[in-house]
Amino acid sequence: MGELWLAPLRGVTIRAFREAFAGPIREAGFVGAFAPFIPANPGIRVNGRMLADLGDGADGRLVPQVITKHPDAMRVLLRAFKESGFLRADLNAGCPFPMIVRRGRGSGLFKTPDVLERLLAAGCEEMGPGRFSLKIRLGLAAPDELLALMPTINRYPLAVLTIHARTARQMYDGDVDLAHFREACVASANPVLYNGDVGLTLRAAPEGPPNLRGAMVGRGFVRALGERPDAATLLAGYLDRSCAELSGDQPVLGRMKELLSYWKDLPGWKRLWPTVKICRTVCELRAVLPHNGKCKEE
Ligand SMILES: Cc1cc2nc3c(=O)[nH]c(=O)nc-3n(C[C@H](O)[C@H](O)[C@H](O)COP(=O)(O)O)c2cc1C
Repeated sequence: MGELWLAPLRGVTIRAFREAFAGPIREAGFVGAFAPFIPANPGIRVNGRMLADLGDGADGRLVPQVITKHPDAMRVLLRAFKESGFLRADLNAGCPFPMIVRRGRGSGLFKTPDVLERLLAAGCEEMGPGRFSLKIRLGLAAPDELLALMPTINRYPLAVLTIHARTARQMYDGDVDLAHFREACVASANPVLYNGDVGLTLRAAPEGPPNLRGAMVGRGFVRALGERPDAATLLAGYLDRSCAELSGDQPVLGRMKELLSYWKDLPGWKRLWPTVKICRTVCELRAVLPHNGKCKEE
């Protein structure tokens, strides 16, 4: 299948998750991870917290991601990444949420190829050839829109082009379109990562042309974690890390419920989900989860 990369899932594959589940991430054979997006807007002030939330990039295994339509603001963020030791950076041109798209960011960049081109030029110049990358979909509404953009994208020496084999209109559901993915992959001058449903409804990434470098996997991996015999212990570690990092119960509960929503149909977790869903405090959650001991305050 080539290289395996962990997908950015905002609110899920964050630093605490990558640390708590580092063992399974290694065992699954991931060569690295893309971090969930950070917005870059004009006047952006990059603070230490933003970078600390990313974690360590010095070994090149973590690729931070930016979402923006402003090349200059993007440069400010990319410089901060470099100063923190990151060797690579990725541009999000795939986010399908209407509010993002309407503002011309994420998949909205399909509507402004000139802006996308300026971002690619700025990114490749700032990070250096082969150190900037693009994550994109097959199109905004139709699956051949990426193909039309390919001559533009091909002008830039990207580390990789990740293609989520859906249109933005499909959001995260509906069939992936392997035929259009293959066409786009063949047309790409850059190495390509396949993305979409690997381990979820596809057993493996599709076979492809020689420039298919590998696959990026998100939800399929996160779901499979819940099937491990040590899932409860790993989850307890994630909960502890989150309690140490966040203040107040609600952000911790939000994080845990987000992860557990991926496990809610799995044997062992299905029974717990209705109770987990209505927990209002971390203490209540600890009382429900296996292997979590007692709450300190009890
Ligand atoms: C909850 C959630 C958050 C996501 N956050 C990001 C993100 O920050 N950046 C990004 O490029 N893609 C993001 N995605 C898209 C995933 O990286 C990936 O492209 C998509 O889930 C399809 O791959 P999968 O079927 O392997 O999960 C997100 C998807 C989900 C479901």
